Amino acid sequence: MSDYIDFISKIKKKTGIDLSLYKEAQMKRRLTSLYEKRGFRNFLDYYTAIHNDSDLLHEFLDRMTINVSEFYRNAQRWEVLEKKIFPMLLEKNKKLKIWSAACSTGEEPYSIAMVLSSHVPLRDISILATDLDAGVLERAKVGLYPERSLKEVPKNILDKYFVNEGQHYQVKDEIKKTVQFKQQNLLGDPYGSGFDLIVCRNVMIYFTEEAKDQIYSDFSKALNQGGILFVGSTEQIFNPSKYGFESVETFFYRKL
Ligand SMILES: C[S@@+](CC[C@H](N)C(=O)[O-])C[C@H]1O[C@@H](n2cnc3c(N)ncnc32)[C@H](O)[C@@H]1O
Repeated sequence: MSDYIDFISKIKKKTGIDLSLYKEAQMKRRLTSLYEKRGFRNFLDYYTAIHNDSDLLHEFLDRMTINVSEFYRNAQRWEVLEKKIFPMLLEKNKKLKIWSAACSTGEEPYSIAMVLSSHVPLRDISILATDLDAGVLERAKVGLYPERSLKEVPKNILDKYFVNEGQHYQVKDEIKKTVQFKQQNLLGDPYGSGFDLIVCRNVMIYFTEEAKDQIYSDFSKALNQGGILFVGSTEQIFNPSKYGFESVETFFYRKL
């Protein structure tokens, strides 16, 4: 057995995370450069160290989950969400059930709340936001961001929903209250149901074809009929009808 395969099975037992569902070459490269930096020679020595040292375990978890995010990432898509997708969904239902899956440090669910607030009052907005990584969820709940993650935020939204604190911007409580953060593994934990909108962006690129296939099927089951899946700008679904989806706009899929 290659030592990476052995490492995968030990990590699965220890953390429940199945690295075999992440693209192998990419993940191996990331982890090899990490363990070499820490002075280990192979995956087995590295596992032994992780097993005995919680700081190393946290560092490993931090490295395998790639956490970069920003507000209004790929801004044009958020315009489509605001001008076309939300009006369409709100025609049928004024109180939408929304899930931001793999939400990282919170920029994505908070952007959803900000965009939706142009259509409905904040008190009627409730967004579930999940991620595998408990550390990013803690940061998301704090809601303090460096200026660079806000470069796509429209000026009126910046003035309305952020407070400038030197080099950082704090998301106002009225927006924070609309989002509930929860730890969830897309590759194993149960999904909810009855969603009108699922936003899952910039995480599928790390998964194997087999894992993606499972996740798209599960998203389809979790959506209401007519509900929308909004994916990342490199993550077009090759064969949407296989999962009961039709494309409504590039990167937006409607459940039939
Ligand atoms: C690049 S970030 C994407 C953040 C945000 N969706 C965006 O587009 O800006 C990828 C996120 O996926 C999370 N992630 C990785 N594997 C996951 C899994 N199996 N289940 C849930 N989240 C996962 C990581 O922790 C990370 O926060």
